[in-house]
Amino acid sequence: MARCLVTRRLPGAALERLASQHEVEVWTDRLPPSPDELRDRIERAEGLLCLLTDRINRELIAAAPRLRVISNYAVGSDNIDLEAAAERDIPVGITPDVLTEATADLAFALMLAAARRIVEADAEVRAGEWLTWEPGRLLGRDVHGATLGIVGLGRIGRAVARRGAGFRMEVLHTGRDDGVGLGDLLERSDFVTVHCPLTPSTTGLIGERELRRMKTTAILVNTARGPIVDTGALALALREGWIAGAGLDVIDPEPLPADHPLLAAPNLTVVPHIGSGTHATRERMAELAVDNLLAGLAGRPLPAPAG
Ligand code: DGY
Repeated sequence: MARCLVTRRLPGAALERLASQHEVEVWTDRLPPSPDELRDRIERAEGLLCLLTDRINRELIAAAPRLRVISNYAVGSDNIDLEAAAERDIPVGITPDVLTEATADLAFALMLAAARRIVEADAEVRAGEWLTWEPGRLLGRDVHGATLGIVGLGRIGRAVARRGAGFRMEVLHTGRDDGVGLGDLLERSDFVTVHCPLTPSTTGLIGERELRRMKTTAILVNTARGPIVDTGALALALREGWIAGAGLDVIDPEPLPADHPLLAAPNLTVVPHIGSGTHATRERMAELAVDNLLAGLAGRPLPAPAG
């Protein structure tokens, strides 16, 4: 039996499966453990199952002399120092594929919500402002037939492209294989949706210069990672009308404080990092995260390694 640290309760029965084979300590608070709390608990752990809110940096890995596997409950691995883990031969697992479709659904939901002003319209009904049917009220933008620009055509980007085809959109994407340059994509798209991983080269990828290249009628959607979009530049872009709107599932910083200036910007739809948040998807993520952990503890290759 190995000692495992799990940094949050997970939906479904996967953690029971883990507990039937190993000794498991689960952090049960709603908020994540602080770096100190994590360091105190990791010292004796052989397996770590962590979340994207846990910073697994070099220092923490050094404080875990018995650690043999890290399993991240996310497809992204930007919260983990992969180099420090590799130096110790600690494999790192992630949860790809199982969350692709749910995240693509949310990207599309944000596009539709922003384009058709759903949140604003709902608020008007609740505020008693639905007085009659008005020809010019709450007009939005067509999604069907528009041009969809996908920044990062990986698994989730491709799933969004499939949805775009269903809406008869012209789909552009960055990258190899008939991809276009980022500048070209920004200038031609009615909807720009971000699906690349967060790396040093994608941090701040969408900043003032890029936002100014977008159409003034365009909408930006980000369901990837917050720091890919420069939050200050986006707030300015919305306030000054460089673009027509934004739909965000991820933001820099996360969580976004309720008094953050971005929230005062017009035409912004924002949800709290719920891209993979369906019952079935979060349970499948838990199963895969446990599979990764069990494989690592048994010295077998991980079913879904990072990198
Ligand atoms: C991930 O998996 O990286 C998402 O951001 C959360 O599901």
